[in-house]
Amino acid sequence: MTATGTSASFVPAQLTEPELKLLQALIYQECGMFFDERRTHFLQDRLQRRLRECHLDSFYSYYRLLISKEGKQELAKLVENLTVNETSFFRNKSQLDLFHKHILEDMLNRKTARQEHLIRIWSAGCSTGQEPYTIAMLVADALAYYQLRHPQSGAPISPKPLVPAPWRVEVLASDISYPVLRTAHEATYSETQMSTVDYSYRLRYFDKVGDRYAVKPAVKSLVHFDFHNLKTEYLPQHNDVIFCRNVMMYFDEPEQKRLIDKFARCLNARGYLFVGHAESLLGLTDKFALVHRNNGTAYQKVEGAS
Ligand SMILES: C[S@@+](CC[C@H](N)C(=O)[O-])C[C@H]1O[C@@H](n2cnc3c(N)ncnc32)[C@H](O)[C@@H]1O
Repeated sequence: MTATGTSASFVPAQLTEPELKLLQALIYQECGMFFDERRTHFLQDRLQRRLRECHLDSFYSYYRLLISKEGKQELAKLVENLTVNETSFFRNKSQLDLFHKHILEDMLNRKTARQEHLIRIWSAGCSTGQEPYTIAMLVADALAYYQLRHPQSGAPISPKPLVPAPWRVEVLASDISYPVLRTAHEATYSETQMSTVDYSYRLRYFDKVGDRYAVKPAVKSLVHFDFHNLKTEYLPQHNDVIFCRNVMMYFDEPEQKRLIDKFARCLNARGYLFVGHAESLLGLTDKFALVHRNNGTAYQKVEGAS
């Protein structure tokens, strides 16, 4: 392995076709991300940056580092650099309306009939947290409205808790990138990031801290962050709903199929899966059926699928 000289004498290394193939295959094996011709330029750019950071002068040396025992941390860093972390609060409104107004209602009715009061939702590929916090706020609203229409016996509690008894809510939020998980855990957002959050949500679920908005502790307490690589077999089980939006689009078809099968195993009976606006399960599985309402789409696990 050769180290480059000072940055002043830095000459960008040329990425050869065989080196590109080796690195593409390694990344695919590590995290499922597939870089086709349309995304090769992006891949090259990120590889070039890492090469420079590591003071190496050839992509083959970099590859050798990545597959070595000492290169584990660098491999994680490379993957972090290749992820696209774009996200926002209340992303894909019509889909969230379907979740809030129909799917949660269906779930709460079914759970009430079974005397089961734990709601488990997983945001897989949560990025900087806007998605899981949006989910937590929507579930809190849905539960409050459900409780209003189906009051439990006993004296009313004041102030009302965010999650009324006997309900319990767990939102698991995971990602492959530690930096985004740290930001998500901090849970403070700029005015620009808040642009899709309306007044009623800002007032009820955020505190203003300086020029930023902090998610209120009660909402934060519903969300637990964890590192999970969706490429692995060991993923969180017993979920009622999985949100995996704008993640699968970076995987190729065989990897998408494997992931959808894993999601079917991670969901409770008749559980729901949400994928991104530009993603679809069409032709990839017979374990899910499409649910469609007012432009919002989701997939429900079919009876007997596992
Ligand atoms: C474009 S963001 C989507 C965020 C959010 N789901 C949304 O739709 O707004 C994609 C996220 O998926 C994560 N990701 C990519 N590959 C992953 C993998 N193999 N395992 C877990 N997370 C992954 C990225 O780190 C990134 O934060």
